[in-house]
Formats: sequence, C-alpha cells, structure tokens
Amino acid sequence: MRLAVQNLTFGYDYRTVLKDVSFKLNTGDFLVIIGNNGSGKSTLVKCILGINKVPGNQILIDDVDVNQYKNFKNIGYVPQKFDDFNYEFPITVNEILNASSYSNISEDEKLEILDKVGILELQNENINNLSGGQLQRVFIVRSLMNRPKLLILDEPTVGVDRTNVKSFYKTVNQLNEEGITIVLITHNIKEANANFTHVLSLHNGEGVFKSVDKEGATV
Ligand SMILES: Nc1ncnc2c1ncn2[C@@H]1O[C@H](COP(=O)(O)OP(=O)(O)O)[C@@H](O)[C@H]1O
Ligand SMILES: [Mg+2]
Repeated sequence: MRLAVQNLTFGYDYRTVLKDVSFKLNTGDFLVIIGNNGSGKSTLVKCILGINKVPGNQILIDDVDVNQYKNFKNIGYVPQKFDDFNYEFPITVNEILNASSYSNISEDEKLEILDKVGILELQNENINNLSGGQLQRVFIVRSLMNRPKLLILDEPTVGVDRTNVKSFYKTVNQLNEEGITIVLITHNIKEANANFTHVLSLHNGEGVFKSVDKEGATV
C-alpha cells in the first residue's frame, strides 16, 4: 500500500501539533516514527486512520484522499497502551479474536496467523493471564485477520521484556518481507531491531524524513 502525507498541519483547539509534515511510502516500505513524548506521533497516525479529521489533499492512501477512502480494513492498527486493559469476566484469546474479526477468514487461516505471530498455544488462555507482550500479539493477530496491506503499530513493545521484544521484531520483519507496508512508532529506535527503510523524526511539530540504507547507518 502506498501512503503520501503532504504538508500536513494539524492541531487540537488552538495548539498546532504537526506543522507541514510530508513524507511518502511505497508498497513494502517500513517507516519508523520517532520523537519525544507529546511530539505528535500518535496524532499523526490518527490522521492517517481518519480518526483525526484533516483537510483534503494532505493524506493520500493508494492515491485516494483519506476523506474519501473506504477500505480501512486494509489497514491494521494496533493502538498505543494496553495498560488499563482488563476484562472483568473470563474471555479467551480465541473468543476475543472471533468476536472482533470483520473478515470471513477460515479457521485454518486463523491458526496459521496465530502460529506466525507465535501465540498458537495461547488460543484458549484467559486474556487476563497474558503478559503485555502476549496481549500485543493478540491484537496484532486480530489486525492481521483482515489481511491488511498497511500495518500501523503504536509503541508496541512498551512493557515487553527483551526476549519478547526480539521475537516481536522478527515477526514484524517477516510481515514486511511479505509485502505489508509497516509504520512503527517507537521511542527506542535502538531496541527496534527492524529492517526499516525510512525514518520520520518529529520535533516541535516538524518532521524530518529520511531514507535509511540497508545497514541502517543513516539514522
Ligand atoms: N485528543 C486530544 N485532544 C487534545 N490534545 C491532544 C489530544 N491527543 C493528543 N493531544 C496533545 O497533542 C500532543 C501530541 O500528542 P501525541 O500525538 O499523543 O504525542 P506522542 O504520541 O508523540 O507522545 C500532546 O501535547 C498531547 O497532549
Ligand atoms: Mg503516542
């Protein structure tokens, strides 16, 4: 999936959060967005997802203006923070996946995705027993069940231990190799052992967009 952000300026009330941010991604690109807390990273992805309303011609998804875009099921989104995630009643991984899928995915395909993301054995686990990293994976599986062409991950490894962070990025790299365009927000680019192709750095509302060579040297 292609994504173009063109001179995007966005704010809440009277305060401008994003000033004239521009970048372009092609199918299969892997963008990392970095920046301090409050620099507008989550705000930017909410603009891309149509949650924050922006004027026409500032965001194009596969050359279609975000305001006209209809196929949001092509975009997988794993939002920031599951800290306060707590179900009062027992619900299993399988139940949450079956309840939230819009697609008519077969049982076999679902199992394949669970396996790929490394939580096949957690199918019948009560989600309140999962670690933060495992819960993130459940939400990634959920977003993959709609077969997205773009996957947006907002600080997916906060509170996840080092071993799981490593295998998490292995999974993300794999998805990217299959041709899914990735947008990853992180405040820890060193930890993100990912094959990203571009970096967008947000600071005081302004974005600096760079291509990264294969060795990841020009961050
Ligand atoms: N819904 C909202 N209403 C008003 N201000 C908001 C809202 N969401 C975020 N902000 C403000 O916008 C700025 C950018 O926030 P955010 O995009 O969440 O930053 P980041 O994800 O980089 O930490 C912050 O100052 C934040 O307080
Ligand atoms: Mg954020």
